[in-house]
Formats: sequence, C-alpha cells, structure tokens
Amino acid sequence: MSDRATFLDRGYDKLPIPFGWFAVALSVDLAIGEIKTLQYFNTEFVIWRGEDGQVNAVDPFCPHLGAHLGVNSEVIGNDLQCAFHHWRFNGAGGVTDIPYAKMVPPVLKRGCLPTWPVAEADGVIFVWYHPHKAAPKWEVARLPDCPEGDWVLAETHDWVIDIHCQEITENGQDYAHFRAVHGVPYAPSGEFKVEGWVRRNTVVAEMPTPRGPMTGTIDVTATGPGQSITEFIDVTHVVQSQQVTPINSSTTHLRWQMYHIPGLSDGKMRVTAARMRDLVKQVNQDIPIWNAKRFNEQPMLVRGDGPMMAYRRQYARYYDFTADTDDGGAASSAAGR
Ligand code: FES
Ligand SMILES: [Fe+2]
Repeated sequence: MSDRATFLDRGYDKLPIPFGWFAVALSVDLAIGEIKTLQYFNTEFVIWRGEDGQVNAVDPFCPHLGAHLGVNSEVIGNDLQCAFHHWRFNGAGGVTDIPYAKMVPPVLKRGCLPTWPVAEADGVIFVWYHPHKAAPKWEVARLPDCPEGDWVLAETHDWVIDIHCQEITENGQDYAHFRAVHGVPYAPSGEFKVEGWVRRNTVVAEMPTPRGPMTGTIDVTATGPGQSITEFIDVTHVVQSQQVTPINSSTTHLRWQMYHIPGLSDGKMRVTAARMRDLVKQVNQDIPIWNAKRFNEQPMLVRGDGPMMAYRRQYARYYDFTADTDDGGAASSAAGR
C-alpha cells in the first residue's frame, strides 16, 4: 500500500464494488486441510480446502454462538469444524455434526451458514462476489490453448494498490498514457469490442526487443471486472493472466501469472524474459500514478485518448445489482480512437 497520505477526496466512494468472479488466493497457497480468513469486498470470509481437494468459502461467523470460523477451527474430512462447540459445516453451509446433540435438526442440515460460490482455474482460486448474493452470471475464463504442449508458468507477481479496481483495467483503454508513462514510441491503435460480459482489446503496438522495436499484437480478453488474459504475440509468445480484486472501494489487490510457450531456445528465452521484465516495469510505472490519482467521472477527453467511455459504459453493468440480466447485454463495439 502506498505510504502517501492525502487529505483530498479522490472520488472512489462514488464507485461501488462491482459484482463478479475475483481471485482471492493462488491454489498453491491453500493446501488440503488449510483454512484462511480473507479480507476483500469490504468484508471478510473464510475459505478451506477439504480432503477431496475442493475449496469452500463461507461467511465468517458461526450461526451457533458466533465464533469466528477462521480462528482455531479445523478441517475434518471435507468439513470445517468450529472451535467453540465443534459443530461441523460442509461446503454447502449445512451442519453435518453436533457432537453433543442426538441429531442435527434438518433445518440446520439443509444449510444455515451463508456460502460463496468458488471456482479454481489455472492455479487461481476465485470467489463470486455479489452484494445481494445473486448467483454467478458467467464462468471463470481459462487460459487459451497453448500452441505447443503446455504453458510454462514463469513468474507470479502481486501488488496492493490504492485505487479502485475499475481504474486499473481502464489503463488498457488509455492509449495516450503508453507513450507518456511507458515510453512506447507511438501511441498504439486498437480495436475495442464488447460481447456480453467479455471485453476484447486488440492492439497493434511497437514492442522493444534486443534487435530493436518490432510490431506485435496484444490481445486482451477481459471476462467480468476481475479477470483479464493477455496474449503477446511477436517473436515470442507470452500470456499474462491478470486478476484485480477489490479489498474495498479504494484499495485493490492486483495479481499476475506470466506464462510462455515450452521449448524456447536460449535466444527466445532471453526475449521472453525481457518482455516479462518490461511488463513488470510498466506496471511499476503506472502504480505511483494510480496510488495518488482521483476518479474523474467526466474526464476532459480529446481525440486520441482511446475508448475509455465505451469501457466505462460496459463496466457500469457490474454495478447494476438489481437487474435480472445474465447475458451482459447486447454486443457493441467502438473504434479504437
Ligand atoms: S459457536 Fe460455533 S459451534 Fe458454537
Ligand atoms: Fe499502463
């Protein structure tokens, strides 16, 4: 988190926390039998991995006498056992055992502990957040097929940033900052498309290589507000899987997993490593600006700024907590400039 205190209103209270699938942990950080209390979405919840390998997520307070299920609790088989009186809960929030009672009342068996939908994909654990606990409206996206063999996970990174998550993913639409902040020689031109809950950006950009800049394509597929998968294709082929997760309206946890194709020659490996270093350098260039900027609801945009308002129009759907829509609305597209 930034250590820069400010007395200024940065406007993030105007932006609610969007609904969607959000990364809450890496799979390797939750072994079988492990329990974690997580703080995201301005609240807290408890996850555990049962013997069957499944991850479960529940509200933190035991419905019996209110113990916190992340404190001194234990995983027994697939269930979570509360520390206070040893009631056991399954992943559906039902009570499976009360050690001092002859039977578990059916109403408790059916479920009395609110749960969170969980998905695990490509080494990341996601939960579905919706302020009214509406059911998931789409599925978690997975990595694209690797052209040869399996993707090689090369690096993982994460940052906690003082900004609303909407602003982090808006960065990709902000074409003009690429030259100013990242020193990309020409502002990239791109295509921006919305298909339901998915947003696609295809950008043709100059990318630095050891043999000088070359033209490559950057393909971004953002599924919901929490997940973007970007393919960089030029002399090398890198996939960057990114997740943004709101801790609250003004703080976001950003995670990256970076993959490359297998069997790279030493030369291509050097180019690949340089590309990954460059991406990390770029986000480190963005972060000081993100940590201190304000949200301008009506920015003063000019020609060349990129499709930011089209992005915001699609993004507004993730704040529509009452609508009964589950298809993300009609497809639309906007020119890149
Ligand atoms: S408070 Fe959890 S079992 Fe009693
Ligand atoms: Fe950037």
